[in-house]
Amino acid sequence: MIKEQNISFPNFLEDDFTLEWHMSRNERYAFIKLLEKTRPKVAIEIGCFKGGSLEVLSKYADKVYSIDINPEVKEKLDGKFSNVDIRIGNSSEVIPQILKEIEEKGEVLEFVLIDGEHTVKGVKNDMTHFLHIQPKSNIHIVFHDSFNPICRRGMKKADYTSSPFVHYVELDFISGVFNPGKLYRQMWGGLALVLLKPEKRVGNIKINECQRKIFNTVYWKSVHPVRDKLMFLKPLIKKQKF
Ligand SMILES: C[S@@+](CC[C@H](N)C(=O)[O-])C[C@H]1O[C@@H](n2cnc3c(N)ncnc32)[C@H](O)[C@@H]1O
Repeated sequence: MIKEQNISFPNFLEDDFTLEWHMSRNERYAFIKLLEKTRPKVAIEIGCFKGGSLEVLSKYADKVYSIDINPEVKEKLDGKFSNVDIRIGNSSEVIPQILKEIEEKGEVLEFVLIDGEHTVKGVKNDMTHFLHIQPKSNIHIVFHDSFNPICRRGMKKADYTSSPFVHYVELDFISGVFNPGKLYRQMWGGLALVLLKPEKRVGNIKINECQRKIFNTVYWKSVHPVRDKLMFLKPLIKKQKF
């Protein structure tokens, strides 16, 4: 009898992918299917952690560059995947270096997973690097945690109109989760998808939020409005002289 009951398990993929993977069951299925369909020549991952999503990327992509700020990640995972190049550093510095290398080597980037710094600025900046490139092929950019209000704000701050190669933006490609595990009344998970194409788009680009009503409803039941208010007040409180 299956006793475990949470957002990730059981998923009946446990024998195929064994490393700790921070995605819910529905995210895992979607992530695997997207990679199975796209079979990218080159993929970049931002936020490697314990290698869960990297294990899937390594299976379906010819080559993967994986970035993490924590050096222990490389110590633990180095040599585990023959097609993976782990780079340690802040994504704000490492992404431009890797994009330059890919260009110089004539490689073809076709897939990106952004799952690194979960701040408004971090998310916006990670996404913005990819809005400066001219794609040689379709690039699927998957962003994890689009259901988290802070990350979602970062996703919305990226200027998608600045790239003529952006053809699709959906923040609720896969919906997120509420109250997962010990994260009391918090909103996490969710996959956003941004599609870049080599040809220029015709017309404007819209940030789709097909599950916006679910997001808004859950938001007001969550801890996030109070947190957001405190974040907003923090700089004002600091400025006060008593
Ligand atoms: C949520 S975990 C990634 C989970 C992984 N993608 C998975 O699905 O199992 C986030 C990772 O991003 C890394 N990280 C946080 N800020 C970063 C930054 N500025 N640059 C690069 N990596 C960062 C953390 O060290 C952590 O390992």
